[in-house]
Amino acid sequence: MTKPSLQTCSSNISFVLLSAAMISLVFFVIYPNEFRLQSMVTSRPSSLTNFMETVSLKPDFRLLVGILTLPDSYERRHLVRHAYALQSNVSDARIDVRFVFCNLTKEEQRVLVAMEIMIYNDIIILNCTENMDNGKTYTYFSSLPKILEGINGIERPYDYVMKTDDDTYFRLQNLAESLRRLPREDMYYGFLTPCHDRGAPNSYMSGMGYVLSWDLVEWIATSEMPRDHQVGPEDLVTGSWLRAGGRGKNRFDMKLAMYDYMEEPRLCSRHEFVPDTIAVHKLKNNLRWATTLKYFNAAEGLKPSKLYHL
Ligand SMILES: *[C@@H]1O[C@H](CO)[C@@H](O)[C@H](O)[C@H]1NC(C)=O
Ligand SMILES: *[C@@H]1O[C@H](CO)[C@@H](O)[C@H](O)[C@H]1NC(C)=O
Ligand SMILES: *[C@@H]1O[C@H](CO)[C@@H](O)[C@H](O)[C@H]1NC(C)=O
Repeated sequence: MTKPSLQTCSSNISFVLLSAAMISLVFFVIYPNEFRLQSMVTSRPSSLTNFMETVSLKPDFRLLVGILTLPDSYERRHLVRHAYALQSNVSDARIDVRFVFCNLTKEEQRVLVAMEIMIYNDIIILNCTENMDNGKTYTYFSSLPKILEGINGIERPYDYVMKTDDDTYFRLQNLAESLRRLPREDMYYGFLTPCHDRGAPNSYMSGMGYVLSWDLVEWIATSEMPRDHQVGPEDLVTGSWLRAGGRGKNRFDMKLAMYDYMEEPRLCSRHEFVPDTIAVHKLKNNLRWATTLKYFNAAEGLKPSKLYHL
């Protein structure tokens, strides 16, 4: 009789949960403000943080940031993960950053990606074959209601869902401030394209990063029209669904705060860094990432030490 009985196991678990509950309760009563300020951005959810979040005050809104990338892009994922982990102190919003790809295809991916998931738990693998303009975005949006349902119960899991790529850097606090007062329904947010003719009848939000409210995600998941029209440049295709379905009436164009990394010549969609930036796009290599992160003081908090010099 060396194996602990089921009874013992479950009572240990309830004891741990009860202790956690009491600690959280005490913490909440004594330090309500600290509790509120506690980070709501999770790149490493654990059962304890999930549990504590249900005790803490409700965030203004919840946003899922889905970064569409490829299983083999380990180095880029590492960099992007760090860029967001250093912005984990966004106040009064819950922002979950996740990397999204299709079926794994190589033996090594099944081990290396499994390790990443075990450590970071920030990866979503969809049931599809990798592609850029052949329906991956459709699979992303249309899978979410199904795969998130079991996790979050009856309440809608997010207010907003973003689709972005691994060459865009979002400044999460500015993003959160811009979203906070916007409608939670029928909302389509991003950088309106074509840049020089925003009144164009077929304008859409650029694939650098756009946000849909949850009702639109559900509409995509349940409508025939998007299902039957998946092929084409993904951002333009998303815009065409909304237009054809008469959806996304609350459109918000973040012109000037969202732009491409500056290189000559300057264009309508491309300019120098500005302080109130929401997103910088076309970060195609490490130097561009580093230049951008430096401008926004991402590594400013580094403590001096005898152990290193930069
Ligand atoms: C979050 O932390 C960064 C780096 O420490 C700091 O520059 C920034 O002001 C903080 N933001 C908020 C909203 O506290
Ligand atoms: C995955 O997609 C394939 C092909 O589209 C389909 O036949 C299969 O049923 C799907 N599997 C699941 C678990 O949804
Ligand atoms: C993706 O992988 C799953 C599980 O191995 C499989 O059932 C599915 O058919 C695959 N889907 C595609 C589109 O290849």
